[in-house]
Amino acid sequence: MSDWLDVAPEEEFGIGQARLVHADGLDIAVFNLNGNYYALEDRCTHEDAPLLGCGLPVEDLMEGDQIICPRHGAHFCIRTGAALTPPAYEDMTCFPVRVENGMVQTRDDRWD
Ligand code: FES
Repeated sequence: MSDWLDVAPEEEFGIGQARLVHADGLDIAVFNLNGNYYALEDRCTHEDAPLLGCGLPVEDLMEGDQIICPRHGAHFCIRTGAALTPPAYEDMTCFPVRVENGMVQTRDDRWD
């Protein structure tokens, strides 16, 4: 089983914020939606564009519980990774999140 990766201390990871972490060549975007954390691969399933990694402020990429691809505008559900609008039709990969001793953590569980 892969190791848990530290994302940020919970006290520094406020509602509406997001963080990007790197794991084995993979970028994982972690979001705080109303106090609940969600992690998704930071890669649009349309043409592989980075989402959080594009450099825009997260406020410009989030709309409620959705993340919007900056390249062609596909919407994805942050909670489930579901592709909600064209031109993306394939869901994003989700990863587990936990809070351990005040630290938000995620894990690449693709090969477990
Ligand atoms: S690369 Fe994301 S919508 Fe096209």
